[in-house]
Amino acid sequence: MRFPILTAQEAAQHIKNGFSVAFSGFTASGTPKDVTVALAEIAKKEHEAGREFKINMFTGASTNDFVDGELARANAVNMRTPYQSCPDMRKAANAHTAHYFDLHLSEIAQKLRYGTFGKIDVAILEVQSISDDGDIVLGTGVGNAPTFATMAEKIIIELNEAINPKIFGLHDIYIPLDPPCRREIPIYKASDRAGVPTLKVDPAKVIGVVKTNHPDGGAPFSPADQTTMMIADNVCDFLTTELKAGRIPSTFLPLQSGVGNVANAVLAGLDANPHIPAFDMYTEVIQDSVLNLIKSGKCRFASTCSMTFSKDTMKEFFENIDKFHDKVLIRPGEISNNPEVVRRLGVITMNTALEADIFGNINSTHVTGTKMMNGIGGSGDFTRNAYISIFSCPSVAKGGLISAIVPMVSHLDHSEHSVDILITEQGVADLRGKDPVQRAEVVIENCAHPDYRPLLREYLKMGRGGQTPHTLKAALAFHETFLAEGNMKATDFSKFC
Ligand code: COA
Repeated sequence: MRFPILTAQEAAQHIKNGFSVAFSGFTASGTPKDVTVALAEIAKKEHEAGREFKINMFTGASTNDFVDGELARANAVNMRTPYQSCPDMRKAANAHTAHYFDLHLSEIAQKLRYGTFGKIDVAILEVQSISDDGDIVLGTGVGNAPTFATMAEKIIIELNEAINPKIFGLHDIYIPLDPPCRREIPIYKASDRAGVPTLKVDPAKVIGVVKTNHPDGGAPFSPADQTTMMIADNVCDFLTTELKAGRIPSTFLPLQSGVGNVANAVLAGLDANPHIPAFDMYTEVIQDSVLNLIKSGKCRFASTCSMTFSKDTMKEFFENIDKFHDKVLIRPGEISNNPEVVRRLGVITMNTALEADIFGNINSTHVTGTKMMNGIGGSGDFTRNAYISIFSCPSVAKGGLISAIVPMVSHLDHSEHSVDILITEQGVADLRGKDPVQRAEVVIENCAHPDYRPLLREYLKMGRGGQTPHTLKAALAFHETFLAEGNMKATDFSKFC
């Protein structure tokens, strides 16, 4: 190999206070795992010596504890974007010790290329292999690695020897031209390849290679509980009805599914449902349930940005990779989540809300309107361009003390104009073609928990007219009551009017 082999400590020494550092990967998959631990140590020592040491972080999405966790705990982050899901980074974001800003995942790469966020000093890329000419085979998640590598002044390679070489061929690396020269992205069905299997980097930029050995793969998903199973059943019923009504073509349409236990349960539900025909996925992460769908033949093809499997499923995938090689493509986030492609393919999108309001607005990110949970992720990329956009969530949280259906969302991520269908374990609210009051009625009666329906009906009734009959002083009464008394059920609207 022509590149120097470095220890993680030697590589980390190249990163200085104030640098903008970009990381390959998407979720824990494909994300570096060793250099950041050494970097956190440098930051701690610098802080002990009374010197500032913070970097700006650009990622594909959430990372792993070796990146977000280590750097947040070392107070080594000045700015971070986009999506994160690490408790320590979340704490830093909410305390403003790290300046976190949230952005649609498909936009990070192009905004960097447009110059919006300045230069990238160093990109740290986890790879399966690198040739002397700079041809890289990436790992199990791509994220924004192609643009990061193109823009970065220097590159540190983490060569993860645990990645199976048979991963070669699963990647589809494509960087669109920027306006005014952009052309259509040549993807006309989920399985179309737009680019090439390897990422070409300029060898002159490579500082060195750090060898690592960390198998990818997270903890297994919790088995679906009764609530998630009921949500899954409702999603399946809705899709079957649409299919029967001819509003979804009989050949079906590609599906996108968000992350988490609800999403996993919905996909498992689709697998078991004999009325749902085989489909493709055009999505940003594939979880364990997708491998089962592929094995059963229900999922014909999955286009993704990362394989976010549990350890056992990752092992199974690579042990049987010959069966899966023509069934998966791993693409950069700006392609897996590309609005143009999502709209063209007619993707049915399924994402999760923290809360929804009776008029169909969605909060996916901010607990009680102030505390950042994770970020908008790709939910906006898909929702806004969907063939049918679906949001689901349990009707209550924290054992019923919180209603996920509220008079007005305390933070807005997806507006009523982008949300077609709302689903809880209680039922399905089809918001299409309804005015705000009609939407509110169907959301209250079909999606709200029975304990909260009387309060929500009262709110709707007390509205003083207008297209969307809010009573502004009482619109956040559920949240105010929860903050004051720890239980939204104690809401007394008269106190707010
Ligand atoms: N108010 C306050 N807390 C709430 C809440 C609400 N309305 N609804 C849920 N919560 C809490 C839950 O109690 C739980 O808390 P805990 O971790 O202390 O137990 C936590 O939020 C997560 O809720 P859960 O029901 O387990 O949902 P999830 O793991 O499916 O995650 C989101 C839900 C919305 C946080 C997650 O899907 C997300 O970050 N979405 C935005 C990005 C996205 O959609 N990405 C995919 C696009 S492809």
